[in-house]
Amino acid sequence: MERIKIIGAGLAGLSAAIRLAELGIHSTLISIQPSERAQSVMAEGGINAALNTMGEDDSPAQHAADTLKAGVDLADPEAVRGLAEHAPEILNWLVNLGAPLSRKKGVVIQRNFGGQKKKRTAYAQSSTGKVLMTALIDECRKYEASAVVHRLSHHEFLSLSIREGHCEGVWVRDDYNGETFFLSGPVIIACGGLNGFFPGMTTGTTSNTGNAAAQLFSQGVAFANLEFIQYHPTTVKIPEKRMLISEAARGEGGRLFITRDGVPFYFMEEKYPELGNLMPRDVVSREMFNISRETGEQVYLDMRGLSKQIWKEKLEDLRDEIIYYLTIDPAKDPVPVSPGIHYFMGGICVDRSHRTNITHLYAAGECACQYHGANRLGANSTLGAIYGGRVAAETAAAEMPGDFPVAPSEKVIFEESVSALHTHQLRDILREGLGILRNEDEIRQAITHIDEMPVSSNSMEEKRKTFANAILLSALNRRESRGAHTRTDYPQKDDENFRKTTVVRYFNSTIHVHFEPIGREGSHD
Ligand code: FUM
Repeated sequence: MERIKIIGAGLAGLSAAIRLAELGIHSTLISIQPSERAQSVMAEGGINAALNTMGEDDSPAQHAADTLKAGVDLADPEAVRGLAEHAPEILNWLVNLGAPLSRKKGVVIQRNFGGQKKKRTAYAQSSTGKVLMTALIDECRKYEASAVVHRLSHHEFLSLSIREGHCEGVWVRDDYNGETFFLSGPVIIACGGLNGFFPGMTTGTTSNTGNAAAQLFSQGVAFANLEFIQYHPTTVKIPEKRMLISEAARGEGGRLFITRDGVPFYFMEEKYPELGNLMPRDVVSREMFNISRETGEQVYLDMRGLSKQIWKEKLEDLRDEIIYYLTIDPAKDPVPVSPGIHYFMGGICVDRSHRTNITHLYAAGECACQYHGANRLGANSTLGAIYGGRVAAETAAAEMPGDFPVAPSEKVIFEESVSALHTHQLRDILREGLGILRNEDEIRQAITHIDEMPVSSNSMEEKRKTFANAILLSALNRRESRGAHTRTDYPQKDDENFRKTTVVRYFNSTIHVHFEPIGREGSHD
């Protein structure tokens, strides 16, 4: 039987490979970096599940309600229900795999995270991604040993082969010897977010170049909600990227302030007495941006009030990192912070079963648009990647055809070198149009500047330009403010016209944007 090809070996890709293996289906796990260097390893704060270990009467229904509320009614309620209901079982599975999540008397403990009133976030200090990935890598090795999973690390996705709306397989390149070859079979894309469009502005790795998204878009794969880009409130500019100060710092009592009349003014607590510093990320980032602009003052994260015990048991690694990279001891001095790009709620448009608009092509994890609506809850990404990878695998397995073409319909020539100059110019233009606050003039100006960038025809640089314009056109057409998309020229939420999914596609050499009802069919339980 043909192997299912999985592009990306982070949480979503590993989860898909393991689920397929459990179902007796062979897969090939293709990734530029080995799993140990995937973006997922960098996840800090935790993973959500209504385990209710803290005696707060938590439930999957409450988890789903918080997820939908933070997503400002743009996530698919059915898909979110599945996510929240499966979360406790996924957490127990991770524990059984040996993931050393923080515990007390053997029971997994949970902490507060943004946008959630219950302590629902399980964690391993602030290195949760590392321990989850280690558990999944180990589990996957079991299937690699029996050749059920075949690894192709240091292999790059180049292109899909699509005939009459059906995915036939993928072209990949071996990055060691440059050899390009074709692999037939159904494909699950799990290649992560669009950080490579924003070098220096994001907490994520720019090894996720965004080329895969640009290539898929150029081949007619539909994308959704690309305008929703999450700015994480507490990041610090360091060379080449933004350093993340995990939301866990605020979950454990860290407070945001500016100096007013010579004393700290804790503006979030003043304005939002209930959740304060733990309002959803879109709200906190906007408030920080506005207060800095109005007062000219730097925002600081104050962790001086945290007890020795909290530092030692819950945030020791975060403290070490802050001392190492910023030479500030957060237990003694406040840390200057500002919002930075952290996550892409939009991505490949999938239904509830993680199908795309191309038959036998599926997507999961950050590269897919599912579960998070207009703004993601912290600690739902690790969960969404594991659950989404599993759902995509089950769908692909159920739809596995008896036979598959062994040769692609066409031989493709690849021209995908992308210069650093191109990447940085594109980043600077996107920054003009896709800030925390946006308006029509800025977005249109960015589109004009992109159109003026010289590129050769059918090159990866041209595809990146087209994809960047797809993001901008999605932002332009959503004439309202919702979640992470704040339009100064349309400051209100407009449910009547825009409580819908933005769908963008490329065909007839043109980008087409339309809005469709939330929640594409496809059942999963
Ligand atoms: O702040 C954080 O630790 C980030 C977590 C997340 O994005 O889920």
